[in-house]
Amino acid sequence: MSSAGNPVILGIETSCDETAAAVLRGRTILSNVIASQTDIHREYGGVVPELASRHHLERIDAVIDLALGRAGTRLADLDAVAVTYGPGLVGPLLVGLQTAKAIAYVRKIPILGVNHLEGHLRSVFLEHPGVPFPAISLIASGGHTSLYLSPDEDRSVRLARTRDDASGEAFDKVAKLVGLGYPGGPVVDRLAKSGDRKAVPFSPPKMSDGSLDFSFSGFKTAALRHAKARGLERRFPAGEPDQETRDLLASFQSAVVEFMVKRVMTIARKEAARSICLSGGVACNSLLRARFSEAARARAMNVFFPALDLSTDNAAMIAAAGYHKLARGERAGVALTAHATFPLGA
Ligand code: KG4
Ligand code: ZN
Repeated sequence: MSSAGNPVILGIETSCDETAAAVLRGRTILSNVIASQTDIHREYGGVVPELASRHHLERIDAVIDLALGRAGTRLADLDAVAVTYGPGLVGPLLVGLQTAKAIAYVRKIPILGVNHLEGHLRSVFLEHPGVPFPAISLIASGGHTSLYLSPDEDRSVRLARTRDDASGEAFDKVAKLVGLGYPGGPVVDRLAKSGDRKAVPFSPPKMSDGSLDFSFSGFKTAALRHAKARGLERRFPAGEPDQETRDLLASFQSAVVEFMVKRVMTIARKEAARSICLSGGVACNSLLRARFSEAARARAMNVFFPALDLSTDNAAMIAAAGYHKLARGERAGVALTAHATFPLGA
């Protein structure tokens, strides 16, 4: 059972291709279970929404049982249930929402609706409670690349976003182009280690209006043009790629990372930020972690990343956002529904 200041919260996350449930007591993670569907979507080069919905439905109950079991809790111990209600794929979101509503109804506990993006922001604060503010928070994932100014843990104002593809989407599309399947980020990260990052020239995008927004489609198009010209296009499963393909991947990854570092550091300086917080699947990238750490150290700023299993989609970050909502007295009703688009702090 919970003690007064430390409610036990079940988090549920089904916005894309991870079926996830987690239990938090206060801000402490008791369990964090993630059933990934990447094996199902790999050959399609991206997430197939209908397949995702069906697999969420098949797995959600078992994933919740496992999260409760690993936490040493039962449904009767829960003080609230927090669930992602957008942005994301509507079918998959509805599976999590209906499950959360059923638990809340049967147990007569509050249901807390969480914006997935707030979850990613919270993933950093959950693990690093001492982040010096103001902080610049970058969410870089398969669906989003947005940058926020966080004056404190509870407030975030969006300062920049991508004008076209998300950063993770660019990784996924370039991996698909050379037959490496979905998700592209981890495999590009691995193969880039044996490639020459200076082999293929990429130019960073320039915004004609001087905006500091992001753009990634130009990197993808340049990679496509190079792959066509050099005969590097492949169908999945391509097997281990040759040196020229590794060079292309290393050059692409380096160009994308350097663009992100430059843009984020420019904004961080302008806003006199004390910390840089990075979250979302792309924040797992090893070059990105190394380059942001170097850049922040050179400017005497702090840099924070969540652990790898809290960077990609997970339900601990959703329960963490729920914890703050519960403390503020926010409650959602049975009318809570899914939102495909759902900006945060815009
Ligand atoms: O946060 P996430 O799990 O889901 C979304 O909310 O989108 O992010 C998934 C994205 C995918 O595009 C995947 O390719 C990318 O994160 N990703 C990476 C790495 N690991 C995952 N991108 C670059 N390098 C990685 N190591
Ligand atoms: Zn996400």
